Amino acid sequence: MKLFLDSALTDEIQYAIDWWNLDGITTNPKHIQVSGKPFLKAIEDVADLVAGHDIPVSVQTNPHNHNDWRAIVEEAIRLASISPNFVIKMPCTEDGFRACAYLAEKGIRANLTLCFSSAQALMAMRMGAHIVSPFIGWKEANGEETGSFIEECVAIKDNYGYDTQILVAAVRNARQISEAAVRGADIVTCGFAVYKDMLTHPYTDMGLGKFQEFWDETPYGEKVTE
Ligand code: E4P
Repeated sequence: MKLFLDSALTDEIQYAIDWWNLDGITTNPKHIQVSGKPFLKAIEDVADLVAGHDIPVSVQTNPHNHNDWRAIVEEAIRLASISPNFVIKMPCTEDGFRACAYLAEKGIRANLTLCFSSAQALMAMRMGAHIVSPFIGWKEANGEETGSFIEECVAIKDNYGYDTQILVAAVRNARQISEAAVRGADIVTCGFAVYKDMLTHPYTDMGLGKFQEFWDETPYGEKVTE
């Protein structure tokens, strides 16, 4: 399963590439705002960082255009021309789906974001989406179960042989990363802190402490020659 970083901060992205063999990046208007840069500057800086590498960067179109497929298409074409790494995000709305189908014909990769049902995921796949992004954290915060949601998206993809990659988004903890992997998602995207947290376990630290004690109480010895 591929691991994407949900961030527009270039220092975080560089760290994740160097240390975690990062597969891709997702951004959204929140991450751009957090970067403190104007939208175009923020996405161009990320594009520069990954230039020449096979690291896709999802970039979101203006969310105000959710019901204007022509405006989504126009902006998507403009954004896609900035970097070959860009995958263009548009929402799971009727206009988003139509824009996706149009862009797919033109060879522009779309990430259908804000996906909250497997029926929306099915539509994204039918329309030729490169990626569809089921948001599990938001659903769980709303008291909804998400394991079967991921499973249904994966089953629909497999049943009909769609090429769309299922990217599990809004992931809050290590357990959800494992769940996504077990249920067959293609990608998860998480914030920097979630990955940092995922790499640790209190028992790993406790075990290291114990082994260090035993180590310190045992002489290393000389190499025994034959
Ligand atoms: C995914 O592509 C989104 O950017 C992301 O996961 C949104 O959710 P969050 O900001 O609540 O995590």
